[in-house]
Amino acid sequence: MKNIKLLSVLLGLFVCVECFSAGAPTATTPLPSVKKQGGMPLMEALSKRQSIREYDYSKEISEQTLAELLWATCGVNREDGKRTAGSTLNKQSVSVYAVLEKGVYLYLPKENALKLILEGDYRAKTGMQPFVKDAAVNLVFVGDEKKLGVSNPTDSMLMLGVDAGLMSQNLYLYCASEGLGTVVRGSIDREAFGKLINLQAHEKVLLAQTVSWPKE
Ligand SMILES: Cc1cc2nc3c(=O)[nH]c(=O)nc-3n(C[C@H](O)[C@H](O)[C@H](O)COP(=O)(O)O)c2cc1C
Repeated sequence: MKNIKLLSVLLGLFVCVECFSAGAPTATTPLPSVKKQGGMPLMEALSKRQSIREYDYSKEISEQTLAELLWATCGVNREDGKRTAGSTLNKQSVSVYAVLEKGVYLYLPKENALKLILEGDYRAKTGMQPFVKDAAVNLVFVGDEKKLGVSNPTDSMLMLGVDAGLMSQNLYLYCASEGLGTVVRGSIDREAFGKLINLQAHEKVLLAQTVSWPKE
């Protein structure tokens, strides 16, 4: 009798674990390795840096380009784990979510991988401007106040904003170098996007940035 009870408790626990993992997708997809040579000379890229809001939606962004644009934004560029963009106290408190036609993914810089957060096309949720729903990639920068650990809320938001700004400018320069179009955007319904990806109170949606091939 005792054994039967123990068995049913264990079975119950197993079913619970299965339910939980079924409701929370955890798949992680490795990205292609990034080539870290070439590109446009810096002064030329700076000369071409601009915001673009008109895109050619028929042209896809390859996995290779996606990996490169994410690495340029905040990938690991040194053996000690530091990144292409500096961060306050090197806390690396801003995460990048890639919102693609197939789903919402969290970029994992250390692993050079994408972690699936939500399956489906949620590009329209990344902003109010009409192009966001069709653009190949929309990145969303999310700052973690707890990870940053700066107690004054104004200072905290300032630091997170600067961290995101450094990433954004890296991406602008990568896009200029590759002939891609991009625009950073403050216009995103932060609350709605936070709810969509189930953010906690200390995780703040800061900015979004669209990337797509420009209209000729
Ligand atoms: C913090 C920040 C927020 C911005 N938000 C938006 C936005 O919501 N929508 C948009 O189309 N452009 C946005 N921009 C882009 C600016 O409008 C753009 O950088 C400015 O007009 C100068 O143009 P340029 O980037 O081509 O030099 C934003 C820029 C920054 C720095």
